[in-house]
Amino acid sequence: MTFLDYAAAPESRALLTLRSEYGLFINGEFVAGGGAPFATISPATEEHLTSIATATEEDIATAVAAARRAYDTVWSRMPARDRGKYLYRIARLVQERSRELAVAESLDNGKPIKESRDVDIPLVAAWFFSYAGWADKLDYAGLGANPRSLGVAAQIIPWNFPLLMLAWKIAPALATGNTVVLKPAETTSLTALLFAEILQQAELPPGVVNIITGAGATGAALVAHEDVDKVAFTGSTEVGRSIARQVAGTSKRLTLELGGKAANIVFDDAPLDEAIEGIVNGIFFNQGQVCCAGSRLLVQENIHDEVIERLQSRLATLRLGDPLDKNTDIGALNSREQLERITELAAVGEAEGAQRWSSVCDIPTTGFWFAPTIFTGVHTSSRIAREEIFGPVLSVLTFRTTAEAIAKANNTPYGLSAGIWSEKGSRVLAVADALRAGVVWANTFNRFDPTSPFGGYKESGYGREGGRHGLAAYLTASGDNAPLRTAAETQGGVQ
Ligand code: NAI
Ligand code: MG
Repeated sequence: MTFLDYAAAPESRALLTLRSEYGLFINGEFVAGGGAPFATISPATEEHLTSIATATEEDIATAVAAARRAYDTVWSRMPARDRGKYLYRIARLVQERSRELAVAESLDNGKPIKESRDVDIPLVAAWFFSYAGWADKLDYAGLGANPRSLGVAAQIIPWNFPLLMLAWKIAPALATGNTVVLKPAETTSLTALLFAEILQQAELPPGVVNIITGAGATGAALVAHEDVDKVAFTGSTEVGRSIARQVAGTSKRLTLELGGKAANIVFDDAPLDEAIEGIVNGIFFNQGQVCCAGSRLLVQENIHDEVIERLQSRLATLRLGDPLDKNTDIGALNSREQLERITELAAVGEAEGAQRWSSVCDIPTTGFWFAPTIFTGVHTSSRIAREEIFGPVLSVLTFRTTAEAIAKANNTPYGLSAGIWSEKGSRVLAVADALRAGVVWANTFNRFDPTSPFGGYKESGYGREGGRHGLAAYLTASGDNAPLRTAAETQGGVQ
């Protein structure tokens, strides 16, 4: 098959003016970091974008002290309605600067502009709007009478949705009256630093949000700081485990949002055109670098061949290339390290005997790229069926009965999300009920909404982000020194 060529339609880089170096954002100002600065690059071209500061333990102590002071003197005393006004202001400034933020996110992360422009940045604004509304209604959130804030929250986020993960962390923390020290991922600090400029524009009181940059060691030192009351982490299960060990035995509250290996289950009565789009969106959105990606396709045996054929012809139409081009479907992977991890696991898939199919793409000569790939004939015991690949690689398994689909879907150490495709509502509800996953989508996938809770079972972590549930992680019942834990925080269960 041949396809029409599209002329290049790049979004303008002139929308974005970068400084040659960025400091740490502490107490409302940019300050130099004590550690060695590092470069942030465009993963599509490997071009140097700007230089980022490294926070040392001393810088972290300054940031935590600023957050504590702001908590004690301003933020915890401010009428809740006024806190809400700051959040609304931030949301509106994000909207005003949305084109610029989308360009920065695509440049620094490698994701297609149509995703940063139409998904990431609008959701960032939506998160702040939604939690702005909660700020003065906490007494009615069903979390006890007069719930109180915790204090200083240390928040560590990953590189796959840099600004969106920042919003998921900062919006509920501020709405509930906590102050924040946030560390973005080392490959994608840029939009967090632009966000710091937005906080200055919003005239948020100094110290309410501090942003410190650096790699894993900076994150570990932040978690270890004794004046931190709450730790919120999104990232790998391995680092999540080490953080859980680090805070064990302290009074720090902890929520973890870790990896996943979601089953996307397609029954033979599913609306196939929609299902194909849902499978594509499930695993190729953001190059598959999504914790809740539908990375295991469970397809009913009698429609397996038809689904694979349709999927392959759909994938052949996806355009891989310049993330800033509005026609691009598949952008660059975030880092060389991630490319190497994906390449290695794909080789494991072949060695284990699964059949590999990759769409034919012109792979640029610089940057980090991986063509959309499907493995068929995958067994439940295969590493590519069990481990998070975190890339554009789909593992396909089959099932015959509903019971087999459920058993295979739940046969994973993770439990973050799942998808069900079927025309029959009663089947969708029954299967959703049996799945051990925090989020279950029916006849759709990778849908996010600020009013809907998100979080995992088992090794996918504990605690919920988003919606009313997301408030609980940042509040404690008044007159009660014991933190108000939700069922999800103590058992990893759905609430
Ligand atoms: P990572 O877990 O090392 O990084 C996430 C964040 O944690 C970054 O900000 C990093 O600087 C920080 N960090 C690293 N070590 C730390 C420590 N000891 N203490 C405190 N903070 C620390 O993830 P990485 O290495 O970038 O990716 C590895 C794999 O993890 C991926 O291939 C993917 O499978 C999974 N992952 C899952 C994510 C999710 O959304 N659940 C996001 C990123 C990665
Ligand atoms: Mg790591």
